[in-house]
Amino acid sequence: MKILITGSAKRIGAAIARYFAEKGHAVVVHCNTSVKEAEALVASFPNPPIHKILQADLTLPDAPSKLIKSLRKNPPDVLVNNASVYSRVPLKDATPTVMKDAFAINFMIPFELMRCFHNICKKGNIINILDHRIDHPDPASGPYAFAKKSLRDATLAAAIDWAPDFRVNAVAPAFVLPPDGVPLEKMDRLVQASPSKVRPTPLDIARAIDYILSTSCLNGQIIHLSSGLHLLSPEAVAQEKPKA
Ligand SMILES: NC(=O)c1ccc[n+]([C@@H]2O[C@H](COP(=O)([O-])OP(=O)(O)OC[C@H]3O[C@@H](n4cnc5c(N)ncnc54)[C@H](OP(=O)(O)O)[C@@H]3O)[C@@H](O)[C@H]2O)c1
Repeated sequence: MKILITGSAKRIGAAIARYFAEKGHAVVVHCNTSVKEAEALVASFPNPPIHKILQADLTLPDAPSKLIKSLRKNPPDVLVNNASVYSRVPLKDATPTVMKDAFAINFMIPFELMRCFHNICKKGNIINILDHRIDHPDPASGPYAFAKKSLRDATLAAAIDWAPDFRVNAVAPAFVLPPDGVPLEKMDRLVQASPSKVRPTPLDIARAIDYILSTSCLNGQIIHLSSGLHLLSPEAVAQEKPKA
């Protein structure tokens, strides 16, 4: 199997890439600014020559279609839409420019990658990485959450429209790794407010993707990796005192 993972030089994407490389699959590591990290990652994989690194700023015109077209001779079996930019912007500051930027990387680009993968590669699996915030209004991360909700809807629509040649599924994690500059302890306090209080790991995400890929009846499925946090509203999480 050959698997393309966007934004996979570091963090969650790198863990997914390592998991599949160590299972013997060919991995296409896409990166934008983290070229050195991508090179070090691929060099550390078993059998480095079977893997590939593709660099692209996906916000540039036609970058998503160029990325998929560059693989058309030996197309991937799986596209994982992982690249993202997380932001917290109060609704009062969500200007059209802020909305456009959040929707570009978190919805328009992954959707365009899905569309090109469908039109060019003809069959395969698509996995979109969403967020637990898709289930409730979350004013604090408005534009990011709106875009992830749109990607959730695109996942479900494509699961119907592109079957049976494609299966389209998603995973929706909560609080896996803090953004740069946010201490892990702060994230862990939020995890403690979740029903089962376990912080999902990048390996959990890789394993969930493996489960989706190996279970051919799964289509239009969203697996929540959130310790039940997606069942609570953000207000309830903020108000809940962590239980001992
Ligand atoms: N972290 C969490 O706790 C968490 C929670 C819920 C959901 N998620 C979701 O899980 C996924 C991975 O999360 P993460 O925190 O590991 O992601 P991240 O570190 O914020 O971003 C992943 C990669 O996206 C790439 N990227 C950003 N802008 C790009 C652009 N214009 N063109 C191409 N690539 C671009 C970056 O690549 P370069 O470094 O090469 O520039 C970056 O390394 C995301 O979809 C996120 O929404 C994460």
